[in-house]
Amino acid sequence: MQKPELIKDGKRLDGRDFEELRPLKIVAGIIKNATGSAYLEWGNNKVLAAVYGPKEVLPKHLADPEKAIVKCRYAMAPFSSLEEHGRAGPNRRATEISKVTKEVFENLIMLEKFPSTEIDIFIEILQSDGGTRSAGITAAGVALADSGIPIRDIPFAVAGGKIGDKLAIDFNKIEDNYSDADIPIAISPNLDRVLLLQMDGKMTKEEFSRYLDMVERVSKQIISAQKNALLEKYKVNG
Ligand code: CDP
Repeated sequence: MQKPELIKDGKRLDGRDFEELRPLKIVAGIIKNATGSAYLEWGNNKVLAAVYGPKEVLPKHLADPEKAIVKCRYAMAPFSSLEEHGRAGPNRRATEISKVTKEVFENLIMLEKFPSTEIDIFIEILQSDGGTRSAGITAAGVALADSGIPIRDIPFAVAGGKIGDKLAIDFNKIEDNYSDADIPIAISPNLDRVLLLQMDGKMTKEEFSRYLDMVERVSKQIISAQKNALLEKYKVNG
């Protein structure tokens, strides 16, 4: 397919400004059996995240007597995307996203408090439209906070990058596919640490630095959606 024009009359195809997020809504605690859970809608992405544990490690030989181990499964439902209809399931991409997501949370959970146990994080993409790894991390951060498992911070993530000579945030699928650079990033705002950084494409150092500034500016909206989800669940009536 020929590369589509992603910017028309100074606007993105969905009418957004370059620094505008898609609508973001998060609900905490919707899966009763889970220790913690969250449902997130971000543009056309729909994501469920559930956390279980700390619990017995299976198989047993994986147990670490010093700390808890984290398992993470990111999966796209077979009906989540028109493109891959019926073909989703474990594949290289899902394995990679599960791995980088696990590393985000290993750096935040107080694993040393729960030796010889495991903590499971499940991320299910019900509907996908670009930026699902970021949406998954943002949702799982809320699910983990909802679980009450001690964490150093709630991470958020977002993906954007470069379209022609413009920088833009929160790419949808068509932007993700045809941009000149696509950069998902996960951040711990309180620890001021980058927990995931990937890049597909090219960008100058100066552009990258401006991109980080853009991420910082939009971060407030993502963090506030996460906090509101938790406040909504735990607010005391009256
Ligand atoms: O979702 P994310 O941007 O983190 O990952 P990606 O690998 O860059 O994929 C971009 C988008 O392509 C996804 O969000 C999906 O909408 C779509 N995709 C798909 O429909 N089927 C796949 N097997 C992989 C990606």
